Amino acid sequence: MHAFSCVEDYRLAARRRLTKLAFDYLEGGAEDGEALRRNREAFGQWGFAPRVMQDISQTTSQTTLWGRAAAAPMVVGPTGLNGLFWPRADELLARAAADAGLPFVLSTASTSLLEDVRAAVPDGELWLQLYVQQDRRIAESMMRRAREAGFRTLMLTVDTPVHGKRDHDTRNGFKLPLRFTPRLVADCMRHPHWSWQMLVGGAPQLRNIAKSVGERADLARHAAMLSRQMDLSLSWDDLAWVRRHWPGEVLVKGILTLDDARQAQAHGADGIVVSNHGGRQLGSTLAPVEALPMIVDAVNAGGPAMAVFLDGGVRRGGDVAKAVALGAKGVLLGRAPLYGVAARGGQGVAGVLELLLGELRTTLQLLGCASVDDLTPQRLAKLPSL
Ligand SMILES: Cc1cc2nc3c(=O)[nH]c(=O)nc-3n(C[C@H](O)[C@H](O)[C@H](O)COP(=O)(O)O)c2cc1C
Repeated sequence: MHAFSCVEDYRLAARRRLTKLAFDYLEGGAEDGEALRRNREAFGQWGFAPRVMQDISQTTSQTTLWGRAAAAPMVVGPTGLNGLFWPRADELLARAAADAGLPFVLSTASTSLLEDVRAAVPDGELWLQLYVQQDRRIAESMMRRAREAGFRTLMLTVDTPVHGKRDHDTRNGFKLPLRFTPRLVADCMRHPHWSWQMLVGGAPQLRNIAKSVGERADLARHAAMLSRQMDLSLSWDDLAWVRRHWPGEVLVKGILTLDDARQAQAHGADGIVVSNHGGRQLGSTLAPVEALPMIVDAVNAGGPAMAVFLDGGVRRGGDVAKAVALGAKGVLLGRAPLYGVAARGGQGVAGVLELLLGELRTTLQLLGCASVDDLTPQRLAKLPSL
């Protein structure tokens, strides 16, 4: 049994267990991976400026998101095709998030039905991530189903009108539905545990989209095809259409510029996620954590209140603290919980979340902060390069 002392340990275990096809899909960035690398490295531009001799005996990482309590300013973010990492991974991620007191965002491209995820976590705070395909009835059906299943918040992802160029997926011949080429068969033979799971449970399918498409015949092929046909005409005015179908909070995910942050605010979004999709879309961008301070300033300068979330490169509790100190309401976790589920199923997700919560708490205490509200820009110093 391996000891897991940090998220990186789970990443290494995930890499050992998954086929190359699955691990590269989980891990990889677009093109040369510049955006992906920068997401991580950008956190290193700031160091902590701790205060000492503060009363930290009652330190808590708790926060509230739209009046609902969360154990920390962390959300388990939306990732598609989770069934490629472990059978029923969506349910396992949602269960572990609820047990840790954190919201879970189910992707449109989930491999479990949203109704099944709700059944697995009747008590969980569930959000739906929405992709809008050309046939808007698919999105409308998914919003209706999610409303009926008690999902609270909608996260409209807008940075994926077309798929980024991911060279590793092309090289590995990764396409839905999965095709067992000689190369994949050889990959499977080197990773028997993963292969056994897929053999017993069947290859993952985009079941959630398939249900909203409402087709019975050849679901996998149909859903995979439709999932790629995004509505390229989607524009800011369509937020009103989303609002008509969604009574709860609406967040826009995939913002990197001031202009778009202001547009989201002007169109009445309840929040945005500053994100470059984990470096999986454009090959090279500003890291979200670099764009965050100016976006927070612009949003706070005027207009209706809007929560600003961040994702991209969060692997330590200290990263969460930095993002909050720079003005984020919270962060989304993308790959980190996936390393957990890919390494050890539900136990692995629970382990990753426990590690991150523990690291955040330790960081707060070492910074002299009794709560996340004490995380201000004064707790950070921009580091001069050495
Ligand atoms: C395997 C994988 C699948 C993803 N699928 C989706 C998705 O279906 N919808 C979405 O909005 N974002 C998706 N994302 C992006 C994440 O929500 C998030 O923005 C990103 O992973 C954050 O960066 P991090 O992985 O460094 O934490 C995916 C990311 C990964 C790693």
